[in-house]
Amino acid sequence: MLLLLLLTNAFVLLPWAGAGRIIGGREAVAHSRPYMAFLKIKNATKTSRCGGFLIRSDAVLSAAHCVDEIGTIVSFTVTLGAHNVSRKEPSQQKIHVEKCVIHPQYSREGFINDILLLKLKKKAEINEYVRNISFAKENEHVRAGELCTVSGWGRTSLDPPPSDVLMEVELKVQKEKICQQVFSKYKRQSMICVGDENRKKTTYRGDSGGPLVCNKKAYGIVSHGIKHRLFPKAFTRISHFEPWIREELKRLSLQDIPGSPSCV
Ligand SMILES: *[C@@H]1O[C@H](CO)[C@@H](O)[C@H](O)[C@H]1NC(C)=O
Ligand SMILES: *[C@@H]1O[C@H](CO)[C@@H](O)[C@H](O)[C@H]1NC(C)=O
Repeated sequence: MLLLLLLTNAFVLLPWAGAGRIIGGREAVAHSRPYMAFLKIKNATKTSRCGGFLIRSDAVLSAAHCVDEIGTIVSFTVTLGAHNVSRKEPSQQKIHVEKCVIHPQYSREGFINDILLLKLKKKAEINEYVRNISFAKENEHVRAGELCTVSGWGRTSLDPPPSDVLMEVELKVQKEKICQQVFSKYKRQSMICVGDENRKKTTYRGDSGGPLVCNKKAYGIVSHGIKHRLFPKAFTRISHFEPWIREELKRLSLQDIPGSPSCV
């Protein structure tokens, strides 16, 4: 009986990359988050979508799990300056991905090091609709209790379809303990525990890769949760990866030096 209980629990608590839809949020004021990127990733049979954010005029950060089960990618585009992604808005800039760097220690099991860096084929034009956001430095941390926002084009309820317009939600940074109790592979160094303890608001499928923004700076990346649970969620902690991001940005500016796993 006890074994059965443990097994059932183990099953229920499998981490799930469905952290991506915004539930209980609101429509964002159009173009109020000009760093938001809409990712469309196609293989031979399927198109999947994710969020991301512009950190340099030719570089976007997102989550590694957005590409890990895709296999061979036939097309990978990033749309910047969008509010409604089902329309062709004059503000939109759709740019192909030239290179994509998955963190070399990314692990699907537990979503460890769930971070992806994209180099765009050309620089985005920076204007009132498209702008990069700064991200947390190695020594910059968010504290439990702080309120931050997440935005994305993910689902707005437990069922499809995803949202056409950009949605946003305020979420609280939670004590590490709360995530340690739920995620067996939770790493306090490289993850941030986030969520609304009243379970009314959350991110969900399709929001993955989007930024957790606190005081106008990106501190986290939408990563994973537990299936059918709205609380808590584990996000990627950007400050931990800042040295890696800087290093890769430098490499991407130079010519292609092999070393890190690439997806296109
Ligand atoms: C295409 O991607 C989906 C995930 O979005 C995956 O399940 C499927 O196996 C992939 N197909 C091929 C041919 O790689
Ligand atoms: C945008 O990126 C440039 C480097 O390409 C950087 O100098 C600038 O500070 C960034 N802007 C923000 C808001 O981070």
